Amino acid sequence: MNFDFTEEHLLIQESAKDFAQSEIATSAVDRDINAEFPGEIVKKMGELGFLGMMVAPDYGGAGLDTISYVLAMIEISKVDASCGVIMSVNNSLVCHGLEEYGSEHIKQKYLIPLAKGEKLGAFALSEPEAGSDATKQKTTADKQGDYYLLNGMKNWITNGISADYFLVMATTDKAAGHKGISTLLVEKGAPGFGHGKKEDKMGIRSSDTCSLTFENCKVPVENLVWDEGKGFNFAMNILNGGRIGIAAQAIGIAEAALDASIKYSKERKAFGQTISNFQAIQFKISDMAVRVDAAKLLTLKAAALKDAGKKYFKEAAEAKLYSSKIAVQNALEAIQIHGGYGYVREYLVERYLRDAKITEIYEGTSEIQKIVIARELLKD
Ligand code: CAA
Repeated sequence: MNFDFTEEHLLIQESAKDFAQSEIATSAVDRDINAEFPGEIVKKMGELGFLGMMVAPDYGGAGLDTISYVLAMIEISKVDASCGVIMSVNNSLVCHGLEEYGSEHIKQKYLIPLAKGEKLGAFALSEPEAGSDATKQKTTADKQGDYYLLNGMKNWITNGISADYFLVMATTDKAAGHKGISTLLVEKGAPGFGHGKKEDKMGIRSSDTCSLTFENCKVPVENLVWDEGKGFNFAMNILNGGRIGIAAQAIGIAEAALDASIKYSKERKAFGQTISNFQAIQFKISDMAVRVDAAKLLTLKAAALKDAGKKYFKEAAEAKLYSSKIAVQNALEAIQIHGGYGYVREYLVERYLRDAKITEIYEGTSEIQKIVIARELLKD
């Protein structure tokens, strides 16, 4: 076991940190208040290779490993978790999905611009009546000659308004249950493809989330990803990697809450001394730091297994379950340490709590992660 990062890992971490501090930090507060999508920042993230980090250079990516991706995700989410989720969906769910399962035609036409950050992707699995119970897909795709006719609705789609390309799970064979679900790549602007209003969210407000509607939307048969009937397996396999990305996002928030608490406790005076001198504060800070370190170990372990080509879905679920929980805990503690100042927008810690909560919900709720872990432990 080796706990050292390579020179390359440290370089990626440093460049993500520099980018986040210099290009993202200044506008994060206003974008949160105004729920404004970071269009220019996403463009720059693409130019720097942060949107196709793990994709092979032949397909326009940076050719890095999952550990590099985790380190970059942490640094970016530490400054703005909205930018973190935009980056995570494009990298883990869309680019990784297309690189693993897309045809050569799909890779050439869609993966290359997505990995270069010239186009943005979204992943559309959830529906009004199929969230955690994701096999209950009502969206249908009927094959009619050289196209599928797509009908239905998707919910809670990250990048739903800003994305160019959408991976849409739909039923191609109702009788086959989850074995009748397929994945189609749909382009923005396809006739019959629309989206609902931008959701007015509690946190990660600078990322856009909306519903999608399909009414007799024609999708060319060559835009089928993997085989017909493999869409549910596709979604599950890809979400395993996605959960590593969201764990990293949560760690970024948890670490930001810790850093803010250390800084504030060394500045704030009460009873004639800085509050960092009080054990009540020291114990909170120690607990926050241990949680961050433990979450990093779990998440880097899942990333290392993935990079080694080993089974990692249980470890990814453990990483997401724990990291999302401690992101909420650390954000709450940071507010407590800041007292009244933690409850107002002037200090950033109230945003950390609002941003942290979603990490316990999307890409599989905490309860779903526990199901994934328990099933693996209890299987015969
Ligand atoms: N990895 C790989 N395959 C998995 C898997 C995993 N973690 N979990 C299930 N599967 C496979 C099973 O092996 C099985 O495959 P076969 O049919 O080939 O044998 C198939 O999926 C069906 O599995 P189950 O019989 O266990 O199905 P189930 O209905 O009992 O439970 C579930 C499945 C684990 C609860 C699943 O529905 C699930 O993970 N739900 C959560 C969905 C989710 O994460 N949604 C996130 C939306 S996307 C998002 O949030 C993105 C964003 O915008 C930020």
